[in-house]
Amino acid sequence: MIEEIEQLQEEAVAAIQGAADPVALEEFRVRFTGRRSQLRTIMSGIGDLSEQERPAVGQAAGRARKAIDAALHQRTRTLEEAGRESSRIDVSLPGRRPMSGVLHPLTRVAEELVTILEGMGFTVADGPEVDDEYHNFDALNTPADHPSRDLHDTFYLKDGRLLRTQTSTVQIRVMESGPPPVRIISPGRVYRRDTVDATHHMVFHQIEGLYVDKGVSMGDLKATLTAVGRRVMGESTRIRLRPHFFPFTEPSVEYDFSCGLCSGADSDPGGPTCRLCKGTGWIEIGGAGMVDPAVFEAVGYDPEVYTGFAFGLGFDRISMIRHGIDDIRLFLENDLRFTRQF
Ligand code: PHE
Repeated sequence: MIEEIEQLQEEAVAAIQGAADPVALEEFRVRFTGRRSQLRTIMSGIGDLSEQERPAVGQAAGRARKAIDAALHQRTRTLEEAGRESSRIDVSLPGRRPMSGVLHPLTRVAEELVTILEGMGFTVADGPEVDDEYHNFDALNTPADHPSRDLHDTFYLKDGRLLRTQTSTVQIRVMESGPPPVRIISPGRVYRRDTVDATHHMVFHQIEGLYVDKGVSMGDLKATLTAVGRRVMGESTRIRLRPHFFPFTEPSVEYDFSCGLCSGADSDPGGPTCRLCKGTGWIEIGGAGMVDPAVFEAVGYDPEVYTGFAFGLGFDRISMIRHGIDDIRLFLENDLRFTRQF
C-alpha cells in the first residue's frame, strides 16, 4: 500500500512538473488531488485499515499530498513567470511606424495654387461637376452652334445635363448668387471627349479665377498671372499672353509660362529638344481675358459699371513638371506604386 502511494506521488509530481501550460496543470490538479483521485480514495479508506497499518499509510498519504501540492504551487509560479516574460515589450526592437497617407500630387499643387491666390485676396468657391448647358455654355455666351457643344467634345447625360467641360461654370454660379465685387477661385475636375495619351486625358483639372469690380483692367490680369507663375514655377518665370478667342471674354488670351528647364529656346541647355517645352521656351497654361459684357448681362451685373477678368489655369501640367511625371494617365489610375512616391 505504501509503495503504491509513493509511486503515485512520483508519477503526479513528474506530470505536474512537465505541464506545458495552465490548462494542462489544472487537469493534473484535478486528476491527482480532486475528489475522485486515487489519493483521495486511499485517504478515505485509511479508517478501515488495521491499527498497525493506519499510521504508516496515513503518513505516506500526507507526504504525497504535500509533495503534490508543492509541485502544483511551484509549476503555477513558473508558468506565470513565463507568461509575463513572453508578453514583455522588447524595447530594443525597431518601432513599427504607422502607415500615413500622402496627398495626391494634383492635390498638392492645387493646394499650393489656392494658398497663393488666397494670399492675393481670392476665396474658394465650389460648383458641381455634373452641370447643365445653361451654366456650361449659354450663360457663358457660347452660341448654340459652337463646336465645343458637339457630342464629340462634351459628355452628355441622358437627361440632357453634362459633365462640365470647364470650371468657368463656377463664374456663373457665383455671380448669380450675389452682387459684385467678386474675387473667387475654384479648383476642380473637368471633362472632355479627348483621345487619351501621355499628355491628354478626358479628365483634367483647372483652377478658375474671377475678379469683378469697378475699374478692373487687363493689367490686373497680367499682374495676377505673373505673380502666380513666379510663385509656382520660380522667381525668374516670365509670362506670355497670346491673342485668342473665348465666347465669354473679350479680349481673350491664351497664356504661357516660360520654360523653367531650358529658360527659353535661345538659351539652351534644354535647347531645341527640351523635353518640357519642345524647344519653344514656353509652356501653355490656360486661357483668360476680360469678362464679356454679355456674361454680365446674363447674370444681371451692369457692364457699364463693372469690369472683370477671368482665367482658367490647367494644373495637371504644372504638377507633372513639378514632380517629374511623364504621363498624365498616372494621375487617375490609382496605382499605389505611383501615389506612394509623393
Ligand atoms: N474655360 C477656358 C478653357 O477651359 C479657359 C478660360 C477661363 C478662358 C476663363 C477665359 C476665361 O479653356
